[in-house]
Amino acid sequence: MEETTESRKKLLELQERRATILRHGGDDKVEGQHAKNKKAARERIELLLDKDSFLEYGAFVKTRSTYYGLDKMDLPTDGVVTGLGTIGGRKVAVYAQDFTILGGSLGEAHALKIARMQDLALQSGIPCIALLDSGGARIQEGIDSLDGYGRIFFRNSRSSGAIPQISLILGPTAGGAVYSPAITDFIIMTRKTSTMYITGPAVVKDVLAEDVTHEQLGGGLVHNQRSGVAHFLTADDDDAIATARELLSYIPQSFRELPPTRPTQDPVDREEESLRGLIPSDTNKPYDVKDIIAKIVDDSQFLEVHRLFAPNIVVGFSRIGGRAVGIIANQSKFMAGVLDINASDKASRFIRFCDCFNIPLLTLVDVPGYMPGTAQEHGGIIRHGAKLLYVYSEATVPKVTLILRKAYGGAYVGMCSKYLGADMVLAYPSAEIAVMGASGAAEVIFAREIKNSEDPEATRAKRIQEYKDQFSNPYRAAERGSVDDIIDPKDTRLKLAQAFAALETKREVYPEKRHGNIPL
Ligand code: HXC
Repeated sequence: MEETTESRKKLLELQERRATILRHGGDDKVEGQHAKNKKAARERIELLLDKDSFLEYGAFVKTRSTYYGLDKMDLPTDGVVTGLGTIGGRKVAVYAQDFTILGGSLGEAHALKIARMQDLALQSGIPCIALLDSGGARIQEGIDSLDGYGRIFFRNSRSSGAIPQISLILGPTAGGAVYSPAITDFIIMTRKTSTMYITGPAVVKDVLAEDVTHEQLGGGLVHNQRSGVAHFLTADDDDAIATARELLSYIPQSFRELPPTRPTQDPVDREEESLRGLIPSDTNKPYDVKDIIAKIVDDSQFLEVHRLFAPNIVVGFSRIGGRAVGIIANQSKFMAGVLDINASDKASRFIRFCDCFNIPLLTLVDVPGYMPGTAQEHGGIIRHGAKLLYVYSEATVPKVTLILRKAYGGAYVGMCSKYLGADMVLAYPSAEIAVMGASGAAEVIFAREIKNSEDPEATRAKRIQEYKDQFSNPYRAAERGSVDDIIDPKDTRLKLAQAFAALETKREVYPEKRHGNIPL
């Protein structure tokens, strides 16, 4: 058909309308974002997705609200850019809040656009990625904003465990805006430009007479280090987006798939002589368990999750022989690797994520026990510590445990011991598996004898040595079958690769029920 003046006019109108939409909230507002070292919503999407892969939904959507003159305002996209695209060739759903449009605040139409992406992601079995930068519920829209959040939280929860959900906090997230990310699997924050809080400094001042800055109240460092709300602290938008891309490389598209494999030049039978000397034989001497991880995994690559929170336990993703694994390791460098409330929460959440998405678990054990004391008891170490027992028992993915050194008491049981369902338990010759350390044990069971003996010191030393000879090794546990094999540390990589390869087809049928009732 011939192009007419009328059709040219219509095309021009489309181009003009689209140009307006692509300008976000206007050049000055975009410059404002840049001045704060933040990118505009579309720039973020472009950086996140493979080149030219973005397929936009709802670019022309506008608010239906008429309150406070909203119908007179031009709010392109209603403040959120939504669509599908690919990352490393794999499909994802994405939405990016646009702070240049009423502060990225969430009204009814904005919420419906997000909900549409969530539905598409779940129906298609693909990850859903949120790029957040928002002042929270759009105050002018009242109940419609609140119900918008309800729709989103409902979908976040229903999608949990079915598809991966990742939230990037790239600006303020205030009020209702914080709870959607909190339900998702991972939160990535930027150091200086992101904040999360349920009420801002002004309200805090008003209600509690506390003076606090935005950053002190809910900045990236606070949530990565203190509250544990966030999992990754990144420098800026670019770094946050690169982290999301890397994270996705370990994760399958949905619970129905296995994680992607990545071929490696790093031979699985690589011997690592240095592992023989990395762990001090003095059980009180610390070392960095990340040095061990680096020597075991493919190309020393380890994506650590929750790096700054509860550093007494280390969790993160790696690959062995090209297969993704989730690693949980006691960190002897911090508080001797003891299990406390935060470490239990951190590890439990990570283990559950891996189990949701078919990522096998490698547990590296060197743990003196659960943390004693009133602070921990009153804080609920029983409730929180129980999570670890629950999630390891619940997990049906392949579970391989390697006992490096200490494995004492309840913490031995809790760190994926044989009877919590480990499919294979390996131990180094330096492993000590006992109810407690030798000196403590001797003090308890020989207290009277030591006290009444002519030479208490000599008696104590003798009894400690006896207990050590009995239990400060992996052999009693191996005799019972609680340890499947004791290995030369130099062969660790090969043994683990063999174990995970052998367990690849493991499938476990879970007892029939609605769902379990994890201690929360
Ligand atoms: C409507 C909002 C808004 C909101 C910001 N804006 N937040 N509009 N609803 N919630 C608008 C501003 O009026 C301004 O419009 C533009 O966005 C940019 O905001 P500024 O304040 O100029 O930016 P900045 O100084 O960077 O401060 C950002 C901010 C601040 C920290 C996010 O705007 C703020 O404190 N906003 C309110 C946050 C809040 O209390 N939210 C809670 C809502 S209640 P103009 O036209 O000037 O560009 C809630 C409960 C839901 O969310 C519960 C569900 C379970």
